[in-house]
Amino acid sequence: CHLPYCKSLIFWGSRFEYFQYKGISFPQIIYSGQVLQMVENNFQVRDDDIFNVTYQKSGTVWMLEILSLIRSNGDPSWCRTVPNWDRGPWYETVIGYRIALTNKSPRIISSHLPAQLFAKSFFKSKAKVIYTVRNPKDVLVSLYHFASMFRPYKDPGTLDQFLEGFLKGDVPFGSWFDHVKGWLNLKDKENFFFITYEELQEDLRGSVVRICQFLGKDLDDAAIDSVVANASFEAMKSNKMSNFSLSPRFLMNQKKSAFLRKGISGDWKNHLTTTQSECFDQVYQERLRDLNVTFPWDKE
Ligand code: A3P
Repeated sequence: CHLPYCKSLIFWGSRFEYFQYKGISFPQIIYSGQVLQMVENNFQVRDDDIFNVTYQKSGTVWMLEILSLIRSNGDPSWCRTVPNWDRGPWYETVIGYRIALTNKSPRIISSHLPAQLFAKSFFKSKAKVIYTVRNPKDVLVSLYHFASMFRPYKDPGTLDQFLEGFLKGDVPFGSWFDHVKGWLNLKDKENFFFITYEELQEDLRGSVVRICQFLGKDLDDAAIDSVVANASFEAMKSNKMSNFSLSPRFLMNQKKSAFLRKGISGDWKNHLTTTQSECFDQVYQERLRDLNVTFPWDKE
C-alpha cells in the first residue's frame, strides 16, 4: 500500500463527531467552543452591521448575494472578485470570526446561530437582522444532500434516519423549530426583517425592493434589475465566488452534491414518502402551535 495515498484516502473519507455547546451540536472542524463563547460575549456589534441570519439551508448564500449586490448599488464587481465567505463571513466559525473583525463597515455578517447563542452586544445595538425562513421539508432535503458532501458533517445515513434526527433537533445548530421560534420572538422589532425563501422565489424583485427599504438603501430601477439578475440561481451557479468551487476539497465534495443543488421550492415532494410527510406535519403542528405566524407553505 502506498502510504501517502492511503493517508489521503483516510483523510478524504473521514467524518468527525460533533461537540456540544450549550446543548447545541457543532462540527469539530471549522467550529470551536472558544470562538462560540467569544461570539456570544466579546464580539462588538456595530450599529451599521447587517446580519444575514438563517437556519442552515434556508437561502443563506442567496440572501448574502442579494445583500452584497445591494451594498454595491447593483454593481456585480465585488461579487465577482471576492468569495462570498469573505463578503459576509459566518462569524461563528473560527475563520469567519477573524474575517468579521477585520471587515470594513457596513459589514454583512452571516450566521446560523440560534438567537440564544447570538452576540449579546447585538441586542443593545441598532444593527439589523434579516432572517430568512424556508419550508422545513425543503430544508430537510437540502440538508440531507448537503450532509453527504460537507465533510465536517456526519454521514446522514438513510433519509428516514436523518428525518428522525432533524425532527428531534439532533443536527448541527439544533432544532429548526427552536431556531425559528427563537428568532421570530424579535419579529416586532424595527431592526428585524423576516422573509421567506418562497417569497424570494415568488417575487425576487419585489423582495429586493422591500429589503432595500428596510436597509434604507435607495437604489434606482437599473440597480435593482442588476441585483435581481446577478442573484439568480444561474448567475450564482456560474460565479466561482458564489458557487463554492473555490472551497477546499477537504471541506466539500461537490461531485456528490452541488452546494447550489436545485434551487427550487417543493423538492421535498420528490423525496419524502406520504408517511414521512405526515410524521413531519404532526411534529410541525405540535411544535409551532403557539407561533402566531402563517408561512407560505402553511397555505398549501
Ligand atoms: P437546494 O439544496 O434545495 O438546491 P444555504 O445557502 O442556506 O446553505 O441554502 C442552500 C440552498 O439555497 C440550496 O437549496 C441552494 O440551491 C439554494 N439557493 C442558493 N442560491 C439560490 C438562488 N439564487 N436561487 C434559488 N435557490 C438558491
